[in-house]
Amino acid sequence: MVEVLVTGGAGFIGSQFVRSALAHEDWRVTTLDKLTYAGRLENLREVLDHPRHRFVRGDVCDPELVGPLVQGAEIVVHFAAETHVDRSIQAAGDFIRTDVYGTFVLLEAARTAPRLRRFVQISTDEVYGSVPEGASRETDELRPRNPYAASKAGADRLAYSYWATYGVPVIVTRASNNYGPRQFPEKLIPLFVTNAMDGLPVPLYGDGLNVRDWLHVEDHCRALELLIERGTAGEVYNIGGGNLVPNAELTRRILSLVDRPESLIQRVPDRPGHDRRYCLDTSKLRSLGWKPAVPFEAGLAATVNWYRTNEWWWRPIKEGDPAFRSYYERQYGGR
Ligand code: NAD
Ligand code: TYD
Repeated sequence: MVEVLVTGGAGFIGSQFVRSALAHEDWRVTTLDKLTYAGRLENLREVLDHPRHRFVRGDVCDPELVGPLVQGAEIVVHFAAETHVDRSIQAAGDFIRTDVYGTFVLLEAARTAPRLRRFVQISTDEVYGSVPEGASRETDELRPRNPYAASKAGADRLAYSYWATYGVPVIVTRASNNYGPRQFPEKLIPLFVTNAMDGLPVPLYGDGLNVRDWLHVEDHCRALELLIERGTAGEVYNIGGGNLVPNAELTRRILSLVDRPESLIQRVPDRPGHDRRYCLDTSKLRSLGWKPAVPFEAGLAATVNWYRTNEWWWRPIKEGDPAFRSYYERQYGGR
């Protein structure tokens, strides 16, 4: 059996990865997750009782817990992070702690893990900073511009340094904006879909012309599986969907899919330091045989449909969780 440790596996992308990992009949998966506000056991409900899956609740910053888990692993896929840019602008401490220090704790354990053959550091295209034109290549300078992006850049380079210095078999992946089922309703797509479903305004930042490159979460996980087998240690790989869409256009598409009027669009003051555009050159990954399989139009429609048919998943967060309501008030109340 191949022992796989997935951190942050109760989150949006991690839970998709755990499901696809379990399709490998010779993989045994341990999910380590703290279950922060963004981590939810519901995301793993189909696999919680799976005979080759074990869930461990805990913090990646805890060396006593992390040590033995990493020691037993052949593959580590490290998703666990604080992930929302707006929250990092409100308060950055948890981002530094989990995204940077937590990565350090895992890497330290990885140095002495006897069977480890792959440590995948899940980074992000945000480490490149805003890209006014052209496409970021893996060798480009990193210019992160918000606390989330900077903490991810720190972890990205720390992971690389553990390969260069200690020979830990690190691969760094930098994915673009993911979308799909089970994304926490603070991010643009799920927030706007669920607000629109309820006839509430959708708060579009600034002039709405910021561009993101959308990647379906299943395409992301397929790329990770390929890189686990065929990537080269010490290398960085961009993973981008190639779907560059300005936020205002995406918002109109969402409203049309939910069958709501464009008058729900509420222009609100811009996010401070808002990166204008991200765009990835993915030729390095494509040369290994990957290309995205989910067309954006179909993927977006299916995602909207998922939120429509899974209100049980998001209503308790948006309506029942006082922490979400106070976050929403802090973030949008004064706008
Ligand atoms: P998410 O916020 O949905 O999930 C994060 C998970 O990490 C949650 O389950 C949470 O409980 C867990 N976690 C947080 N702090 C922890 C800690 N200290 N110890 C253990 N677990 C902890 O995030 P996501 O969107 O699934 O992102 C996963 C990874 O992918 C992150 O590293 C993120 O930076 C990266 N990424 C995300 C995107 C995107 O568009 N969502 C794009 C590129 C890269
Ligand atoms: P988001 O989903 O937060 O992802 P990221 O900041 O990691 O790219 O935001 C996607 C884009 O949508 C980004 O340009 C900011 C914008 N946005 C809004 O206009 N309004 C919102 O309420 C949110 C959450 C995001």
